[in-house]
Amino acid sequence: MPNFTATAPGKVILFGEHAVVYGQPAIAVPVTQVQARATVAPGIGLPSGTIQVQAPEIALDSPLRALPLDHAIKQAIDLTLAAVGVAQPPAFKLKITSTIPLAAGLGSGAAVSVAAVRAVSAFLGHPLADEQVNAIAFEIEKIHHGTPSGIDNTVVTYAQPVYFVKGQPIETFVIHTPFTLVIGDTGVASPTGIAVRDVRKAWEADKGGYEGLFDECGRIASAARRAIESGEAGALGPLMDENHTLLQAMGVSSPELDRLVQAARAAGAAGAKLSGGGRGGNMIALAREVDPDRLANALMEAGATNTVVTTVGHR
Ligand code: PMV
Repeated sequence: MPNFTATAPGKVILFGEHAVVYGQPAIAVPVTQVQARATVAPGIGLPSGTIQVQAPEIALDSPLRALPLDHAIKQAIDLTLAAVGVAQPPAFKLKITSTIPLAAGLGSGAAVSVAAVRAVSAFLGHPLADEQVNAIAFEIEKIHHGTPSGIDNTVVTYAQPVYFVKGQPIETFVIHTPFTLVIGDTGVASPTGIAVRDVRKAWEADKGGYEGLFDECGRIASAARRAIESGEAGALGPLMDENHTLLQAMGVSSPELDRLVQAARAAGAAGAKLSGGGRGGNMIALAREVDPDRLANALMEAGATNTVVTTVGHR
């Protein structure tokens, strides 16, 4: 039996994070400069039926059966075995590596799930279709994030820009004119589930106020889609700035995020906002009439721990 390898990209949310959990549209795009990779190899020398899981970056080297039930990689394997209908798989080793920063809003969890599901199902001779891969990755997101919208697993599975409305069929869309983003990492690890839970509590305490904020985010996401499809990149920067103000009002920004957003604008970004769950993790800045490397340097000077430059719409 040969080895099987699958990869999945990172992602950033351009518009509509948090509001998307409450039914508003959001836009997310793949970030192909970073990726998760899963390789399945036959378990030569392993006792029959043994599945060994290795993820060197998190110092994991364990038989599957010794992993806790809620371990994301265990769930990816168990759900895949159930989906392909294989109860007694041959011994195999699953090795996961990833260049996607953890807990930073770049979709690392979803990418690991998607790559693992693809590699394991292909190894077992039943490569799953994107729709099934996406459904399994969503199940895993639910266990780890509480009430995820499904946007992360969707953009990572299809590796295409998506206009996402929770519970509705996936809409990918055309990028008329590619545009360049600089992603800046605050270095503050911030699990998405906590920010999502806090927004839920705040919404429960002030439904009217929060729904007003969510509606505005939805309006921005639809306007952004129109701008991206028609190549009016000039409209995007101000929409990013507006979206950041709304996220601040929801309580999901942080001093570190605000500092990087300000630094990006001061260095000539056409717009900037936090991206993803917030509180830490990443922000994004639109580089239109400024060299993206200059923006990246300005972000590092303002305290970013890492930057990624990505052009959206270039395949
Ligand atoms: O932190 P990230 O990039 O995984 O994004 C989470 C996006 C939220 O809207 C905050 C949550 C969700 O499930 O959509």
